[in-house]
Amino acid sequence: MQGSLPFRNTLLVAFLSIVTSLVAVTSLPSTRVVYYLHTSPAAWNEASKTCSEYGAVLITLPNFPTTNNSVTYVNVNSWNSQMNTLQNGFWTGLYRNSSGNLRWQKCTEYNASVVPPEVTLTPGTCYVSDTSFRLSSQLCNTPRPYICQRDDGQCWFQPYVDTMLEDPDTSTAHSDVTTTTDEGDCAKLCRSTVQQNRECWAFNFRGDNCTLLFADDNHKYALHKQSSYYRPQQDHTAYVKICTGGWVTTLKATATDLSPTPQDENCTVTTSSDWDDAVCYCECDQPPVILEAESLVMTIEEKVDKIVQELHVDPDNTSSTRRKKESAEDSRPSAQGIGYFGVAFLIAIFGGIFLMDLNIFVAHAANFWRYIKSKNTSDC
Ligand SMILES: *[C@@H]1O[C@H](CO)[C@@H](O)[C@H](O)[C@H]1NC(C)=O
Ligand SMILES: *[C@@H]1O[C@H](CO)[C@@H](O)[C@H](O)[C@H]1NC(C)=O
Ligand SMILES: *[C@@H]1O[C@H](CO)[C@@H](O)[C@H](O)[C@H]1NC(C)=O
Ligand SMILES: *[C@@H]1O[C@H](CO)[C@@H](O)[C@H](O)[C@H]1NC(C)=O
Ligand SMILES: *[C@@H]1O[C@H](CO)[C@@H](O)[C@H](O)[C@H]1NC(C)=O
Ligand SMILES: *[C@@H]1O[C@H](CO)[C@@H](O)[C@H](O)[C@H]1NC(C)=O
Repeated sequence: MQGSLPFRNTLLVAFLSIVTSLVAVTSLPSTRVVYYLHTSPAAWNEASKTCSEYGAVLITLPNFPTTNNSVTYVNVNSWNSQMNTLQNGFWTGLYRNSSGNLRWQKCTEYNASVVPPEVTLTPGTCYVSDTSFRLSSQLCNTPRPYICQRDDGQCWFQPYVDTMLEDPDTSTAHSDVTTTTDEGDCAKLCRSTVQQNRECWAFNFRGDNCTLLFADDNHKYALHKQSSYYRPQQDHTAYVKICTGGWVTTLKATATDLSPTPQDENCTVTTSSDWDDAVCYCECDQPPVILEAESLVMTIEEKVDKIVQELHVDPDNTSSTRRKKESAEDSRPSAQGIGYFGVAFLIAIFGGIFLMDLNIFVAHAANFWRYIKSKNTSDC
């Protein structure tokens, strides 16, 4: 399935020019945003601080249809529909700052025309949402469940073997055929292409044909798995783009902050929102590991303790000897995450020992080289 080198280079140039021309003029394609549903209620400032402890912010809806579709997908696929139980509302990242302006966390301006209007007007400067994302203001020190969101790399593609995706709705969908022998190249194209403000949300792959499907709706094909879009078709593989994921967590807020007003954000530092394509595209069809909030908030010391605990084997425990010959697969993302961390940790330690001995090794090697050389010259 490998293309010849010149061909791949041509493709890369074509690909880059498409990306630069399209990305420059239209909106940026989606990257992955993961959502954590916190079921332990907290005041707004406490909730905000808990999110920030693992690099997240309270959920923002500056582009309402996009967020609604992503969260709907996560609610069905990762939250076991637990969001539907939050009828009394959950905190969002919308607040009124001390100058009286509404804004989302992450320093995003509030645009009333893209968000559903408020249902009630209760005094308060922090905003809860109901399960349909209707917002209402509340006193910030009211304990509420909340949702944090975190930017987490690139989208991935769920493969459907012997399946072809077809979207009869040509007014909103559009497809584009490219020739490539590599599914990975096709995935890269789909991940980075926007056409007429429509993003690529899936692609069909067969032989050397890569057909991108563009649609208005965020996660259109991922949200409608039982629909007529999916048609059985031998030798075709349909790949559906998924740019979200998440966990439910019972993590308790660590800080106590019952102040009735939200903490202003420091918006003088402008964060660049450049689209990050510096990622590894390998295994684009594997669901990426999404770490649980519990492991994200751990300090390095706690992670090391946990690894040591997991590595510790009681020699007297007969079950461990029983299990010696069989390996139990642990596919929990947290376990995998900890596993990767453990590997990195071991490499760091043994790599460090190796580096410390490197000068000795180099000295020996130099001696050995001199020895060989002297032997060779004497041979001549
Ligand atoms: C949010 O998305 C779901 C699923 O796509 C849809 O059924 C629902 O109507 C949307 N909500 C609003 C307020 O548009
Ligand atoms: C409040 O928000 C407005 C715009 O949304 C901004 O100009 C102003 O500086 C903010 N005030 C503070 C104290 O952050
Ligand atoms: C608010 O959103 C609408 C619809 O996307 C857009 O036309 C408008 O320019 C936005 N307003 C501001 C102030 O960004
Ligand atoms: C690829 O697409 C072209 C044009 O759509 C078609 O003629 C050709 O048969 C396709 N090849 C494969 C292997 O599907
Ligand atoms: C906001 O960030 C800037 C730049 O890092 C810093 O100079 C300023 O002191 C910060 N302001 C507050 C109120 O933290
Ligand atoms: C032996 O292993 C089992 C399961 O792995 C564990 O529940 C138990 O506590 C262990 N016993 C001792 C004495 O460590």
